[in-house]
Amino acid sequence: MTKVSVIGAGAVGATTADVIACRELADEVVLLDVKEGFAEGKALDIYQTSSLLGIKTRISGTTNDYSKTAGSDVVVITSGIPRKPGMTREELIGTNANIVKTVAENVLKHSPDAIIIVVSNPMDTMTYLALKATGLPKNRIIGMGGILDSARFKCYLGLALNTPTVDVHATVIGGHGDTTMIPLTRLATFNGVPVSATLGSDKLKEISDATMVGGATLTKLLGTSAWYAPGAAAALLVESIVRDQKRIMPCCVSLEGEYGQKDICLGVPVSIGKNGWETIIDYKLSSDEQAAFAKSAEAVRTMNNVLKEINVL
Ligand code: 2OP
Repeated sequence: MTKVSVIGAGAVGATTADVIACRELADEVVLLDVKEGFAEGKALDIYQTSSLLGIKTRISGTTNDYSKTAGSDVVVITSGIPRKPGMTREELIGTNANIVKTVAENVLKHSPDAIIIVVSNPMDTMTYLALKATGLPKNRIIGMGGILDSARFKCYLGLALNTPTVDVHATVIGGHGDTTMIPLTRLATFNGVPVSATLGSDKLKEISDATMVGGATLTKLLGTSAWYAPGAAAALLVESIVRDQKRIMPCCVSLEGEYGQKDICLGVPVSIGKNGWETIIDYKLSSDEQAAFAKSAEAVRTMNNVLKEINVL
């Protein structure tokens, strides 16, 4: 019996729950939100697709009753406010830090063995906060950002190559911020061939830049932040955990010297299985990539320091 809870029934949380249910990744999904009746409504709507789509996953909602999430194997935290057009993810810290801390503490009271996935922004700092505030073993706290950023990178590469995105392999590491993410163009391939064999350096730079502002582009178009790809990315992470797939995915995890950084959570390739993140993979970065990673870490560290300034840590 696999149980997954999704905290926050906004667009990202509801989409995460929907994809988990559609792919039958759990026997039971619980959606929780602070807004009266909201999670119950979203969950009932999703559950009413089950006879139409032939889904056996049970899905229910609750207004802030964490006892309903008890015994979850995985908990996805999407709570907090999303960004508005023109805002950076970092500007959300004051509001979201207190929310994420309270949510993580409540979750653990009822699911002490859960693996926690953090989606709330600014994601790298919220993952660090969840790690520090809960004191959980580092492998059980995973920030979801790189999977989404890599999906956007693959989308833009696939469009430029005129090929389905599933044939493109590409990874984004570093922070989940407009200026902190690092699309690894050098390692991107298309059916085993480096994308640089087909796309020139100007085009690759354009794709890399578009990837970095991928979330902001959607926020401008939609008036709020995106949800389909963020929800699908979180569900993919859940899948690798509950099915113990050991897939390699770029995730925000606690670094203790790997990639030259410590006392920080940042996006690196990790294997994901039933114990959470299991191993950090060394991509052997070039000196330019390593320098970009160090710069990304510096920006995220500045943001992490704000947690102390606002007395959340
Ligand atoms: C995004 O990049 C919400 O941070 C998320 O769309």
